[in-house]
Amino acid sequence: MSQRQVKKLVTSHRQTEGGGFIVRRPFPTRGFPQADPFLLLDEMGPIDYAAGKAVGAPDHPHRGFETVTYVLAGEAEHEDSAGHRGRLGPGDVQWMTAGRGIVHSEMPSRELQQRGGRMHGFQIWVNLPARDKMIAPRYQEIPRTRIPEAQTADGLAKVKVVAGEALGVRAVIETRTPISYQHWTFSAGATVSVPLPREHAAYVYVFEGAVRVGDREVADGQLAVLGEGDAVDFSAAGHAQALLLSGVPLREPVVQYGPFVMNTTAEIQQAIDDYRSGRMGSIAR
Ligand code: FE2
Repeated sequence: MSQRQVKKLVTSHRQTEGGGFIVRRPFPTRGFPQADPFLLLDEMGPIDYAAGKAVGAPDHPHRGFETVTYVLAGEAEHEDSAGHRGRLGPGDVQWMTAGRGIVHSEMPSRELQQRGGRMHGFQIWVNLPARDKMIAPRYQEIPRTRIPEAQTADGLAKVKVVAGEALGVRAVIETRTPISYQHWTFSAGATVSVPLPREHAAYVYVFEGAVRVGDREVADGQLAVLGEGDAVDFSAAGHAQALLLSGVPLREPVVQYGPFVMNTTAEIQQAIDDYRSGRMGSIAR
């Protein structure tokens, strides 16, 4: 097997989103606008909210891509104009395919807003290929009990497989194009080699401790862009956590205007018109 090496390291920046919550965002940035087929990676928190201070992202539209929310701590309440409504607690995943358009609301749960508490999680945006941009919206709500977990024989490297396959376990989530989304937790002395299809572009985001990826050390808050190969080797000298994201690049033009991601400016104009005239609906309350 040929090992993938780190081609580029991107340090995340802090950014304010939605109703005023701070995220760590390795991309998009000016120097690294996208990680085809992924458009965005946000780490929300960890933050300890005082009572009455928790904020979220009230009603906003999406078209042309998917948003994937993975909660590590706290509780979120999501609802949308297609009538979906769900609560996400620690370990739960919401894979939302906006397709031709949806109005979405992502808020901390009422209890978290009232009492305060810790919030930590991820949102990634997965681009849709041109042929799928106008499909019907879809929700996949996957509770933590349905996210498969596995570990190395020595128990030092553990993985939760949100999408794709690792250490012999396969995720239940269906993706429109081949995607892998793995959450790794390492204890001191962990080593593991993870096979990845050669045609995938692959990225590793470290969000606790430090992880050696191939022959480079990747620090907390850094994203490693991996080169070609058919496996990625991880090791960790201490406790660490990382996401491994990979997928077949779409290699299509990306025209983005805020929450709309299409292939041409005419399609963006259409999305703005459709949203303004109410054709993406509204959330019934
Ligand atoms: Fe959203």
